[in-house]
Amino acid sequence: MSVSDLFKPLTLLHGPAMRNRFMLAPLTSQQSNHDGTASVYDQSWIEQLSQSYYGLIQTSAATVEAGGIAFERQLGIHSDKHLPGLTQIATTIRNGGSLSAVQLHHAGHRAKPLFGGIPAPASDKTIPGISAITTEQVEQIRDSFIAAAKRAQLAGFNGVSVHGAFGWILSEFMSPNLNDRKDQYGGSIENRARFTIEVIKGIRKACGPDFQIGWRLSIERYGLRLEELREITAEIFDHELIDYLDLALWDSAQVVREGSFQGKTMLSVFTELPRKGVRLGAAGKIMSAQRAGQLMEEGCDFVLIARAGILQRDFPLQVKANPMYDSPQLPVTAEYLRQGGLSERFIETMRGWQTFVYPGSK
Ligand SMILES: Cc1cc2nc3c(=O)[nH]c(=O)nc-3n(C[C@H](O)[C@H](O)[C@H](O)COP(=O)(O)O)c2cc1C
Repeated sequence: MSVSDLFKPLTLLHGPAMRNRFMLAPLTSQQSNHDGTASVYDQSWIEQLSQSYYGLIQTSAATVEAGGIAFERQLGIHSDKHLPGLTQIATTIRNGGSLSAVQLHHAGHRAKPLFGGIPAPASDKTIPGISAITTEQVEQIRDSFIAAAKRAQLAGFNGVSVHGAFGWILSEFMSPNLNDRKDQYGGSIENRARFTIEVIKGIRKACGPDFQIGWRLSIERYGLRLEELREITAEIFDHELIDYLDLALWDSAQVVREGSFQGKTMLSVFTELPRKGVRLGAAGKIMSAQRAGQLMEEGCDFVLIARAGILQRDFPLQVKANPMYDSPQLPVTAEYLRQGGLSERFIETMRGWQTFVYPGSK
């Protein structure tokens, strides 16, 4: 597949088709208001993105419960007070011609009390002095994911992406290192995946047949086991429980270092699975037109753009204009980001990302 194929539409099992193969990855910019309502900075960022020709734009990770917060000034979707701002975001994205999804997030044991978070570990052993959440609390959080999806639908989003990556609650429950529960949410991999599956099925039931459901999965760290994640993914594909899998790799070329898939790319372990009507995309160092095109050849249906989209908001348009487009070299100056339209808050966030902003640059 060549770079021009990135501009072919992509149908999804539910709802409208993506106009092309570019999906904006979820990006927490920490520029919302302290109560999680969308700020003028969020709206301005979305306005820029809406003119950037993405097939689908995911919002930053949005808290499904106030206690599930991980970051200061994180976007929220846990209450109706978030609806007006979210509705404006969905409307702006739709008017620009992209599909939209809210990333649904609960930080689990990594919730930050400093910002009102209440750590919710799967196991008694994860955080000294804090007990594992009860079965009823798991069900409560599951229902909060579902209620948040309903809210996203009410706000006019085409769908949601369920955050199952990076050790946050659903990924935490998937991990045998972090989950030693004795109830139906612990033990076998089927049980550890139950939380995720119930969230996905619950959203489908609550939001109906036109709503799009994505699932973000990461493989590295947190004691996650590739073989198990592959097995669960195969099942999710086989039952067509989701519209798209968003494989969150830090490097889309990452090779498996041990176990039965040693030597293969992590991506190929998933692209080789029969996926029926489910679409598969990957994130991780996609910084050039050529790399994006190459991932289509490696079996992706779409690509997720993260840091390249912060450096240059209209990455898809850049690729369209120039099949040899490459992102600017990192690090960049704060002024470069400012001129590109990033708010001071977002620039501050990016200073926290190693090698992104020149240290001390104004
Ligand atoms: C500033 C920033 C914020 C991010 N916020 C989120 C987030 O809210 N949710 C999430 O799942 N991943 C988040 N990520 C990870 C990205 O979505 C992406 O998977 C990762 O950056 C790898 O892609 P890249 O190499 O193209 O940047 C974030 C990354 C960056 C740089």
